[in-house]
Amino acid sequence: MKVLFKNIKELLQIRDENTRFVSGKAMNELPTIKDAFLLIKNDVIYDFGPMKVCPDEAVDHVIDATGKMVLPTWCDSHTHLVYAGQREGEFVDKIKGLSYQDIANKGGGILNSAKKVQNISESELYKQTKGRLDEIIALGTGAVEIKSGYGLTLEAELKMLSVIKRLKENHQIPIKATFLGAHAVPEEYKNNKAGYVDHIIKEMIPLVAEAKLADFVDVFCEKGYFTVEDTNRILEAGKLHGLQAKIHVNQFNSIGGVQAGVKQKALSVDHLEVMKYEDIVVLEKSKTMPVALPGCSFFLSIPFAPGRKMIDAGLPLALATDYNPGSSPSGNMNFAVSAACIKMKLTPEEAINAATINGAYAMGLEHKVGSITKGKQANLILTKAISSYHFIPYSFGNHQIERVYLNGVEVV
Ligand code: NIG
Ligand code: FE
Repeated sequence: MKVLFKNIKELLQIRDENTRFVSGKAMNELPTIKDAFLLIKNDVIYDFGPMKVCPDEAVDHVIDATGKMVLPTWCDSHTHLVYAGQREGEFVDKIKGLSYQDIANKGGGILNSAKKVQNISESELYKQTKGRLDEIIALGTGAVEIKSGYGLTLEAELKMLSVIKRLKENHQIPIKATFLGAHAVPEEYKNNKAGYVDHIIKEMIPLVAEAKLADFVDVFCEKGYFTVEDTNRILEAGKLHGLQAKIHVNQFNSIGGVQAGVKQKALSVDHLEVMKYEDIVVLEKSKTMPVALPGCSFFLSIPFAPGRKMIDAGLPLALATDYNPGSSPSGNMNFAVSAACIKMKLTPEEAINAATINGAYAMGLEHKVGSITKGKQANLILTKAISSYHFIPYSFGNHQIERVYLNGVEVV
């Protein structure tokens, strides 16, 4: 099957196959071609360039993109898409003045979602999650990472991971699965956190890895959740079983989680709302991608990750949604891109890089998606007619997507 986009007003994010991510000053460069064509052959990007060298061969489908732009679909490297029910009651509690921690202390928060996941059938959980996956694809997401972590028992964690496995089998977009057994200490282990960490290390991780249900391992490294020592132990167990780390750190407190992530060669460290100078410095010589989650900062009214400072220090940065029922009930990457510009002072170029190529790297998919590169999967956004790509983050709360293509096929 051959599909030709022609007269593209601007084709964004053109990279050669050696670009795995961009950092520092290079984040402010977004390579583009104006008045471009793009040719898809058999699901992948086959060729592209200026219209004056547009191939004249027979194709199955021609799309006239006059006035419109084409860019790679968003790469959302941090979500908790698998959950049951909602938590809008806590949302109202928050409006009335309770903090995230107050709600957790009342048995709400992650433990509230865990109860719901434990009591739902796998097929119903699949149905709810599939709805959210279809929703984010319509918003331009073309690759996603999904975590477990609302099960907190072996059985319920496996149920969540099985849902992710079925989504991988039935959907067109690349999906990566992360085992987050260490998301919170379950009720049964309230007075025995060490026992739960042992259970994760000795029973859960080996089983999850053996069943090939996860690509990565995650820990919520935070006061009141898991310490740096717990984190190191769990990440080491993950490593032994072939699971690379992607971890929750520095959401509320800087307690050494970034350092643990770098030491364990984590693929990414995520959240980073509270960053000390030394947290930035330790990332400088690493291959670990810092990931900011502006939707979470917005929804919880907590600080935004200091993205400007991190990029100015020479670091790369990725953006993700953190889609989950407690701290970010939205999987809208368009909003993440806008909020990064508005609240974190990223330029549109930096934000688009952070939401595409760097997001792809943060889930080990940079060889497949995240840029307009020959041979990459043809997962593309065709925008509406817009004046410039700056309009994408500028029009916050809206999106500029006219069509979404996965493997070269129009899905939205
Ligand atoms: O990434 N911070 C930890 N985990 C999720 C929120 C979980 C919840 O509140 O349900 C997050 O923000
Ligand atoms: Fe998260």
